[in-house]
Amino acid sequence: MQLRAPRGTNDLLPASAQAFDFLEQAAHRVFSRYGYRLVETPLFESTEVFVRGIGEATDVVGKEMFSVLSPQALARLCDGSAPKADEQLTLRPEGTAGVARAVVEHGLAASGAAPAKLWYRGSMFRHERPQKGRLRQFHQIGAECIGAASPSADAEAIIMLMRFFEEAGLASSLLRLLVNSMGDENCRPAFREEVRAFILEAADGLCDECRRRADTNPLRAFDCKSPTCKEVMAAAPRITERLCDECAGHYEAVKARLDAAGIVYEEQPLLVRGLDYYTRTVFEVQVDVGLGAQNAIGGGGRYDGLIAQFGGKPTPGLGFAVGLERIVLALEASGGIPVSPLAPQLFVAAVDADSRAAAFALACRLRDAGMRVELDHQDRSLKSQFKLADKSAAPWVAVIGPNELTVGSATLRSMSEGAEQQVRLDATEDFARIVNTMKEGL
Ligand code: HAM
Repeated sequence: MQLRAPRGTNDLLPASAQAFDFLEQAAHRVFSRYGYRLVETPLFESTEVFVRGIGEATDVVGKEMFSVLSPQALARLCDGSAPKADEQLTLRPEGTAGVARAVVEHGLAASGAAPAKLWYRGSMFRHERPQKGRLRQFHQIGAECIGAASPSADAEAIIMLMRFFEEAGLASSLLRLLVNSMGDENCRPAFREEVRAFILEAADGLCDECRRRADTNPLRAFDCKSPTCKEVMAAAPRITERLCDECAGHYEAVKARLDAAGIVYEEQPLLVRGLDYYTRTVFEVQVDVGLGAQNAIGGGGRYDGLIAQFGGKPTPGLGFAVGLERIVLALEASGGIPVSPLAPQLFVAAVDADSRAAAFALACRLRDAGMRVELDHQDRSLKSQFKLADKSAAPWVAVIGPNELTVGSATLRSMSEGAEQQVRLDATEDFARIVNTMKEGL
């Protein structure tokens, strides 16, 4: 039986891997302008990190986490006993909780210090029902700013996110930036109660899950994908009308900063996002092309209570993450990804067995000098080496045969024009000058 990649996972073949690399480089260029530095946290953490960070009553924690079992923990489980607390590990479903844990563990956001501005990229794992743009292993680029309470930090992160999309080649006309405020521990509890009462009142029109949510996490009902629940919840109380003065002032200031920067956004009072750590500002970017139902290509918000959840001093924070698979689908649907495969600049072809060693040595020298060079490793005839060169899109072929070896040179042939010239085998800089005159792929 042929083995296949697990359901909901993708092999990142060269074209996708290169597209992801392009997006990472775009993130690197844009984020460094805003003072963010790259970090990498483990792919798995104590389960407790996600339970505490994301919230027990979220879908992500309640239904979608992949556990990691060490052989010892598995043996204990098979024996009918529970794994020990430090054996309960989970593949990260998102990046924020792990970064917050690391910030506390390494004291990266000491009070009085400048905020820790960190970005990351990598795989995330959620056991969701796979569909277009929704995978069980997917890739995010995310950014977290920990230690800044001012609304200007929220606006800065949103502006940076939109600049990243621009840099990645997604026209702003294709994007919809939704913003909302979710209040804080002063105004949200009363709002939650109001929504709970609303759900109980409107229970007949809601799905079982939303009815259950009345007790566990009423605000999740705003996120339900069922059209009937959406219709009912559209009439629910709105948080933006219930914000306390501080939260309302913060929200107004974020919007004023976005307006001043010329960022176009829509206020979406029903936007609550699927993770429980958010306070005040939340935002999401949706795209109109290529994705259908899974049209959120990024989202984030403020989480002023998260660092304290991990045992740190109360420290404000905020951030966002984008989904690379979804961005690539949107780019493909809107005119392609602005990257081309890195074709070799030169193919070195050997006329016969005796010339192969010299061809190999030339290829090594030119690669050491920085050129992208390919050659045959399958003892092909000269004719099929030319076919291979053509297929690889190399613009030049350097041919080495008995005649060339006698005079110590290669015959360099332009694949587009057929013109030939002799170049001495040891004249590396002549090869470089000639091949570098060709237009480069990205
Ligand atoms: P999130 O909205 O859960 O937020 O995920 C961010 C992005 O990851 C989504 O907008 C989507 O593009 C992508 N994504 C999520 N789930 C999947 C999936 N199953 N398959 C493919 N792509 C997916 C977070 O993860 C937060 N940590 C963002 C954040 C950072 N908030 C504050 N800081």
